[in-house]
Amino acid sequence: MTAIDDSPVRDPAALRAYMVRALRDQDAITTEPVAAAFAAVPRHRFAPEAPLDVVYDLHRIVPVKKDEHDLHTSVMSAPHLQAVMLEQADIEAGMNVLEIGSGGVNAAYLQELVGSDGVVTTVDIDRDIVDRARRCLDDAGYGQVKTVLADGETGVPEGAPYDRIIVTAAAWDIPPSWIRGLMENGRLVVPLTVRGTTRSIAFGRDGDGLVSHSYRLAHFVPMQGEGAAKERKALLRDGVVVQTDDERVPLNTKALDHALDSPRREFWSGAAYDMPDELEWYLTLHLSSPARLHASEDVIASGLVDASARLGVPALVSGDSIAYRTRRENEDTGGFESGVVAHGPQAEALADEYLRLLRQWAQNHRRRGAATIRFLPGPAPSVLPQNTVLKRHGIVAVSWH
Ligand SMILES: C[S@@+](CC[C@H](N)C(=O)[O-])C[C@H]1O[C@@H](n2cnc3c(N)ncnc32)[C@H](O)[C@@H]1O
Repeated sequence: MTAIDDSPVRDPAALRAYMVRALRDQDAITTEPVAAAFAAVPRHRFAPEAPLDVVYDLHRIVPVKKDEHDLHTSVMSAPHLQAVMLEQADIEAGMNVLEIGSGGVNAAYLQELVGSDGVVTTVDIDRDIVDRARRCLDDAGYGQVKTVLADGETGVPEGAPYDRIIVTAAAWDIPPSWIRGLMENGRLVVPLTVRGTTRSIAFGRDGDGLVSHSYRLAHFVPMQGEGAAKERKALLRDGVVVQTDDERVPLNTKALDHALDSPRREFWSGAAYDMPDELEWYLTLHLSSPARLHASEDVIASGLVDASARLGVPALVSGDSIAYRTRRENEDTGGFESGVVAHGPQAEALADEYLRLLRQWAQNHRRRGAATIRFLPGPAPSVLPQNTVLKRHGIVAVSWH
């Protein structure tokens, strides 16, 4: 819900001013240069076909292109997410910036931030999108932004090294070209998908690798081309999907669907549930057979699957059983207690493993604050260290202090 919806104003300049104020109020904009960029760019010129109230709504995307399955392949991202990522990028005047995934409007914000002495290049894999971005940029007075048609997996080496690289499609991995293409003290802001959850992570260079400054949950269209995620998905029934990118996980559609028909069993940990995103990092790093369970509103309303699966929840999957996290109010202490819902013949064993992790998290990690994420490029070690996830181009390592 945004303040815009309540506003009677329908003039683009007024809507824009309103948007900037609301983005500040919600702490999406925290610095003056980003506020100035959002105030300067005529956002509606980058989506001339969309209603003004949609274009200036803080949390709404504008659809641009869909594939044959009716899934978005390109959208104009919502202002709130764009502002958060531009703040994460910490851009200064005069910088050389690469955006991977075009649309036009974000490149215009970038051009405002780097000023007339800076350079912005935006690359997209889809010719329609590049052409559209070019037209909109020229129309709105941002002719100096360079547009390139290419698979962003290879970066745009002609313009490297970059002070900043901002990726605006969900990346499953970090290809060598992005690290190579960064200045020594450069920054990469990338919506990185780790075990099915995407977070916009601001990374700085750390020798040959990367170390995080900050991260925020984010939702993006998936990266296409060479770097596309290789995930397996099982549609158990209408509105229930289990997905995984981990080769160890057995995804037996029939058996898991059958498990859902078996009685639902609940197990309670006695441990507090809070800091959901930190807990999610911990669970996905430690579950022995990790997947993600998604359920539609209808399925949740029917009571078959818990509301925790609305946006996807870490699940522990065996050949014929599934367990996932839930929560309930804790009347004694206030707040919530974490628990597990499990179905299938191995419900109890899966719940035991899950509960152990929920308790370990509450005892050892909950008070340690945000995690630090490292990307260590190179071939996989023969034994994967603790708290790491294997990618094609390196490993993601997560630590708490
Ligand atoms: C969310 S849209 C970009 C939004 C845009 N930055 C804006 O200003 O709102 C994601 C874009 O990434 C593009 N994309 C997907 N895979 C890509 C790849 N491998 N290389 C370059 N662009 C890619 C899609 O075609 C799509 O246009």
